[in-house]
Amino acid sequence: MHSDTATVYRNEAAIGSSLKRIFEQNLIPGLTRQDIFLISKLAPKDQGYESCYQAVTESLRNLQVEYIDLYLIHWPGTAKLKLPDPQNAINRMESWRALEDLYHAKRLRAIGVSNYTLAHLAQLIERLHHNSHTSSHHPRSSQHGDASSISTPAIARTMVIPHVHQFEMHPRLFQKSLVDYCQHHRIQVQAYSSLGESRLVSLTPPPPPVMDSNYNTAPLPGALDIMPALICKYFPVPALVAANNASIDATADGLVSATAEIEYPKRAAQILLRWGLQHGAVVIPKSTHPERIRNNIDLFSFEIDPQDMAAMDAYSVEGERTRYCWDSTDVF
Ligand SMILES: NC(=O)c1ccc[n+]([C@@H]2O[C@H](COP(=O)([O-])OP(=O)(O)OC[C@H]3O[C@@H](n4cnc5c(N)ncnc54)[C@H](OP(=O)(O)O)[C@@H]3O)[C@@H](O)[C@H]2O)c1
Repeated sequence: MHSDTATVYRNEAAIGSSLKRIFEQNLIPGLTRQDIFLISKLAPKDQGYESCYQAVTESLRNLQVEYIDLYLIHWPGTAKLKLPDPQNAINRMESWRALEDLYHAKRLRAIGVSNYTLAHLAQLIERLHHNSHTSSHHPRSSQHGDASSISTPAIARTMVIPHVHQFEMHPRLFQKSLVDYCQHHRIQVQAYSSLGESRLVSLTPPPPPVMDSNYNTAPLPGALDIMPALICKYFPVPALVAANNASIDATADGLVSATAEIEYPKRAAQILLRWGLQHGAVVIPKSTHPERIRNNIDLFSFEIDPQDMAAMDAYSVEGERTRYCWDSTDVF
């Protein structure tokens, strides 16, 4: 079981009490803590060494767990700082130091970043390499609050290269150089919004949600026009369509006929998620529907051909990418 949460989602406490109830009342027989992969993330307001340390302590308490499987710096910037402020870079480096200490203290099993551009990530890794040669800096010296209950092991600092980078990735936003960089440094890519927040699997995409100023609210393109052909190729006789005596007909403008409206989203979702997997990413699609959740893990009965992978990649044109979520490009 996988749970991707964050301080800013404000549901850590709800997840914590649900897990406690599941375990105490044995609601899912046999389920143990080891069967659950818990992710949480640092809020932009908590950037900096001490704040980050305290925030993780708070997450551990809210989630009611001894350790969190993966903790990410959610965003490269700090709340209330302007995007070009150089303090953003200083703060996220200090946050990283706190995560390293919590990792060494075994309260975090893995640590990583999210929404970093290639420049943010390269800067972090360069500084880690540089500092590992020039100092044994160990900033946690003060003891206060609940954070003091987490003892830092008495070993020399060992730098930790991020284990995971979680960022928006789908055929309309395939940042190949970032993916290549992560793979070169053995950083696991975790793709979010693989379905374009449903816009890539919907024939009638919803309007963008109202979020903060870093969120893309421009009108966005949705479904890929090659998708009907891919669905026909990889799911030649879709059971549901056949049962309804319907067919997937590509229309002149590239969309499919109304008879395929139920079949289209689920098959498109499988193809988009499989595309992410074949690029080496972990995919974390979100759905509130059990049927869709089952559908979204049914990804291993087919493989996308290299030429179709390339055709899907080609929807991302450098400089013309479609971003459905946040854009951190201007964060210093
Ligand atoms: N690090 C970050 O800054 C960041 C940002 C965004 C997201 N995330 C993480 O990534 C996860 C997924 O991203 P996301 O929620 O943005 O987008 P997503 O997974 O691309 O899309 C989710 C939407 O697609 C619909 N959907 C799911 N499966 C479907 C299917 N088989 N057929 C048709 N519709 C389907 C869902 O509707 P229903 O729920 O109604 O099924 C939901 O509206 C989030 O839950 C979050 O944990 C992280």
